[in-house]
Amino acid sequence: MNREEAILRELNLYPLWQQRAQTKPVYDQEAAAAQPIIEQETSQSVMEKAGLQKLASCNWPELKTLVKNCTACKLRAGCTQTVFGMGDVQADWLFVGEWPDADEDVQGEPFVGQSGKLLDNMLAAIKLKRGHNVYITNIVKCYPPGNRMPEANEIAQCMPYLERQIQLIQPKLIVALGETAAFLLGYDAALPDLRGKLHDYRGSPSSGLVKDIPLIITYHPTDLLHTPLNKAKAWDDLCLAVATMQRLV
Ligand code: URA
Repeated sequence: MNREEAILRELNLYPLWQQRAQTKPVYDQEAAAAQPIIEQETSQSVMEKAGLQKLASCNWPELKTLVKNCTACKLRAGCTQTVFGMGDVQADWLFVGEWPDADEDVQGEPFVGQSGKLLDNMLAAIKLKRGHNVYITNIVKCYPPGNRMPEANEIAQCMPYLERQIQLIQPKLIVALGETAAFLLGYDAALPDLRGKLHDYRGSPSSGLVKDIPLIITYHPTDLLHTPLNKAKAWDDLCLAVATMQRLV
């Protein structure tokens, strides 16, 4: 069996990896519905509180420093380090996960644990490689204690950093991994309703984006480790991403 076949078998049929010990917290739909996800007011309060007016014009090193020193929510105080993102800062492809897990908290890079291995194979299956025309980051930059689901307010506080990353990278296509990353759309919906189609990332009014960026939403690698049957659907989403990129370049 060649390498590509092995990867496809891995994606579609063979769950080689073990489920991570820490199960992903269940997303509380009711709580989320009661609290709007991305409020303009909340984003503005971040700017005021942490002196992030600089955000709109900062360069990459300055953005990293702002993230590192962020005190906008309580997550930073409880994590080892921020997980800013990694890869090609001029990439056509931007993959956005949810939040760092314990492994990422220790190593300071996104997707370095079990789900990261699967993400690397997903990338390889569409002939991509971490760091080569690909940038990987998360919607939330700090590990939440006990790997709990970040609160809506914590996501909202962190969103301006991701928005600035997107503005600086200017990717041609964004692939959001999991329901939380789908908050990029500015609203919450169940993954089965979001995947398998092309969306537009518009950013918030303050994001400064001059044009929409195509956005595809698919299963988070951790979800695929839990439910390997969904790997076939994830593969369909990746094929849609490749077809979309081919049209864009
Ligand atoms: N899950 C994510 O969403 N991101 C990571 O970096 C690791 C696990």
